[in-house]
Amino acid sequence: MCGIVGYVGYRQAKPILLAGIKRLEYRGYDSAGIALLTESGLMVSKSVGKIKMLEKVLGDREYKSTHGIAHTRWATHGEPTEVNAHPHIDQNSEIALIHNGIIENYRTLKEYLIRQGVNFKTDTDTEVLVHLIRLNYKGDLTSAVRDALTQVDGTYGIAVISSMHPNLMVAARMGSPLVVGLGEKENFVASDVSAMLEHTNRVVYLEDGEVATITPTDYEITTIQNVKITPEINEVSWTLDMIEKEGYDHFMLKEIHEQPSTLRNTIRGRLNLDEGIARLNGLNLQYEELHRLKRIIISACGTSWHSGLIGEYMIEELSRLPVEVEYASEFRYRSPIFSENTVFLAISQSGETADTLAALREAKKRGITALGLVNVVGSTIARESDGGVYIHAGPEIGVASTKAFTSQVMVLALIANLLGRMRHLSVQQGQEMIDYIQKIPDQVEHILQKSEEIKQIAEVYHKNNNFLYLGRGINYPVALEGALKLKEISYIHAEGYPAAEMKHGPIALIDQNMPVVVIALKDPVYDKVMSNIAEVKARNGRIIAIATEGDREIAERVDHVIYIPQTFRLLTPLLSVIPLQLLAYHIAVMRGCHVDQPRNLAKSVTVE
Ligand code: AGP
Repeated sequence: MCGIVGYVGYRQAKPILLAGIKRLEYRGYDSAGIALLTESGLMVSKSVGKIKMLEKVLGDREYKSTHGIAHTRWATHGEPTEVNAHPHIDQNSEIALIHNGIIENYRTLKEYLIRQGVNFKTDTDTEVLVHLIRLNYKGDLTSAVRDALTQVDGTYGIAVISSMHPNLMVAARMGSPLVVGLGEKENFVASDVSAMLEHTNRVVYLEDGEVATITPTDYEITTIQNVKITPEINEVSWTLDMIEKEGYDHFMLKEIHEQPSTLRNTIRGRLNLDEGIARLNGLNLQYEELHRLKRIIISACGTSWHSGLIGEYMIEELSRLPVEVEYASEFRYRSPIFSENTVFLAISQSGETADTLAALREAKKRGITALGLVNVVGSTIARESDGGVYIHAGPEIGVASTKAFTSQVMVLALIANLLGRMRHLSVQQGQEMIDYIQKIPDQVEHILQKSEEIKQIAEVYHKNNNFLYLGRGINYPVALEGALKLKEISYIHAEGYPAAEMKHGPIALIDQNMPVVVIALKDPVYDKVMSNIAEVKARNGRIIAIATEGDREIAERVDHVIYIPQTFRLLTPLLSVIPLQLLAYHIAVMRGCHVDQPRNLAKSVTVE
């Protein structure tokens, strides 16, 4: 996600725009930029890093301008550099544009524009938009924007200004939020209301496919096809703090609920339905190299290590390639054995975890192809990898990882599909898997509706000081992840265990004070898990089960059941983890813990 702010009115634009993007910094903060319309034309200034770096570049200089746009970036295409920062301008430096979203067909558009004589300066997908608008410009900026957007596939929230149209701003929305703020002799546009709330609480929320033409005293909204829209004006009553969390009490809860949308972003543009195969251009591996692969080593820490364990099950089952998953902190200090045709895969949300970075460097030192599965574009691990896949989960502010975990697992499913289809998976099998993949975001949405039900379960157990999480097969790593979530934010001692292993020790802990969370889905090991449940019940253990919708039998065997929909067996972790995230969240809140910044933890462990 990126932060977008536009202003057109009677006051000096620079302070309004900078204050506005600061309100949006939680949306993305790897680079920033501003464009002001001055008497001498467009003034554009950009910087890498947080907004305070942009302020440093701008200094105290007063730019006489009452009209401008500003942007704080969360890079998706093109590393966070000054050149790649927004705003982007056309070749005549007369049009400036800022964008939040992903242009799926930017490669095709870029090739077309290059054939039209456009010289590109950046690696971004966004730059194609401003050149396309220029190409379609025939004297009316809004018409040029509408005509350009008819050629675009993907998501966007954009704001556009031009030195050829003083006091006019054009905004358009498709898939990325955009709101118009209505002031007195001044108007605003932004990614969300927090950027304008100190100036006005009268807003118009743009809908997908709408284009707004905004002046200091007026505004008009049409569809991309130029059909006039009569919008509804809303009065916003939220506080600023609430807005940045979009009404959620914590960033973690917001990020849990973002998962349907972030999973759609992870999948976007990466599924070839006809061939039943995933498309992962960033791996930078030729098909021949992928065919020659003999072994994969995955290395990560914490939650990312858990997603790696899930990836092991997926990749081995679908491609029959051996996969081993290593704690990065262990891997880097033992003398690992590398064989030829081995690929090393580092998984890291932040892309800055010291142990994971060191493990990647160790692999590269041994001449092994090292890939990164990363969320933060342009992070150190991303830059030092030979290739990789960005998970497109957007900024994850809560220290406890949730949406990044499910996006990591989704990318690993795509990798497993790709490697499987290159070996044993038929087109039909690939298509079946992709069909299930496409249903996952809606199924996650369905499970999120159970938050209140899960909160009631949390009410029963939030005073307990020990938990055991059990799972088998591909859901064993989910048990580990559920236990980590609870540990991290509620400070309760929680252990994840393979369900059968309970008999080899942990069963000694079971009594009515040790709640046991069991992932008991209708899969080949269901009966075995039911035996484990019986063993727990025989010792007065209390059980919370994650079960498959329609399974009535389990309800008689346990104390609480949280049902999740049926899906492709290897995709079940994407669904079974959701109730565990919510359970941990509600228990932590009931225990009065600081959910977004738990004690002793950091969002990114950049030290050994
Ligand atoms: C997960 O909730 C924790 N914040 C922590 O275990 C985290 O997963 C680990 O530090 C790895 O971080 P990374 O994914 O940014 O490398």
